[in-house]
Amino acid sequence: MLILGFESSCDETAAAVVEDGRTLRSNVIATSVAEQALYGGVVPEIASRRHAESISQVADKALADAGLTIEQIDAVAVTFAPGLIGAVLVGVNFAKGLAYSAGKPLVPVHHLRGHIAANYLTHPDLRPPFLCLVASGGHSHIVMVEDWCRYRVLGRTVDDAAGEAFDKVARTLGLPYPGGPSVSKAAREGDPHAYKLPVPHVEGKYNVSFSGLKTAVVNEVHNAEQRGQAVRVNDMAASFQERIAQILAKKLLAAAADTGAKTVCLAGGVAANGRLRQLVNDGAQKLGARVVLPELKFCGDNAAMIAAQGYYEYRDGNLADLRLNGLPTLEIDYR
Ligand code: KG4
Ligand code: ZN
Repeated sequence: MLILGFESSCDETAAAVVEDGRTLRSNVIATSVAEQALYGGVVPEIASRRHAESISQVADKALADAGLTIEQIDAVAVTFAPGLIGAVLVGVNFAKGLAYSAGKPLVPVHHLRGHIAANYLTHPDLRPPFLCLVASGGHSHIVMVEDWCRYRVLGRTVDDAAGEAFDKVARTLGLPYPGGPSVSKAAREGDPHAYKLPVPHVEGKYNVSFSGLKTAVVNEVHNAEQRGQAVRVNDMAASFQERIAQILAKKLLAAAADTGAKTVCLAGGVAANGRLRQLVNDGAQKLGARVVLPELKFCGDNAAMIAAQGYYEYRDGNLADLRLNGLPTLEIDYR
């Protein structure tokens, strides 16, 4: 079954064709990240306008790269939640128009379910149940994936998302947006033990909190300034990355140990973080659990992951009609 998927919930306009939820046939991404970087973060209005300008060409290229016409596609899948609503609506409306004109079924896909499904593209034998940390710019969840379309949230952030913390710390340190890649790069030249950053206390065994960590970085920067000094950017980047990766890995591995999960998995933009991947890999091996990591090109926002999850949503009978609306927020375990 061939699914044409669309993703437009943040600053990537993406379309992709995936066969049977597993085999990538094409993957096209246009991004406004360079323009957004001028403002130090995503300006929703700019994201929506860029989606509107490019989605049609992106769709054409996804079909052309796959060597297919729209008639040969079996269903159209689209991210309908959660995300920047003006941005989400561009994808939803385009997908609706395309599905309607081509007479194809329309499959609504939850963005975070899509991030998890990115792993299906790289690991053909991966199947639920498995435990997954989904960490992106807007969300940080520890989720038991009980079935293809059934999820149990074990823990979540009580304040900032992990990616958001990277972005804010980057801004504080004068590093470019997006913060994850720029902090990681700076961290390569730094000492991860140079600054003693706090381990936040948080209610709930698998919950995480990052706002205290971010404030600690801001305070170090201000204190240094008051002494007429500057914070050592590489050392601070390394110390921050080490702390946040330790927190995420520890919580995920605690959940893995308690639930007896046989497979532990990462998803979302932050899953590209090398130190996090390493810690989860080492820790899961000690537990005797299999580790599944998404390919780097599928960590950030893309439409292949939406087309992959779209296949399982379709099989589950999760179809939309032309009244489909976008939603800025929606729990991953919605029914
Ligand atoms: O999943 P994603 O592409 O978009 C959302 O759904 O939000 O995640 C974007 C987030 C950004 O906050 C970015 O700074 C972070 O993922 N990120 C990283 C890395 N690459 C991207 N965080 C840590 N380390 C990275 N290498
Ligand atoms: Zn995302």
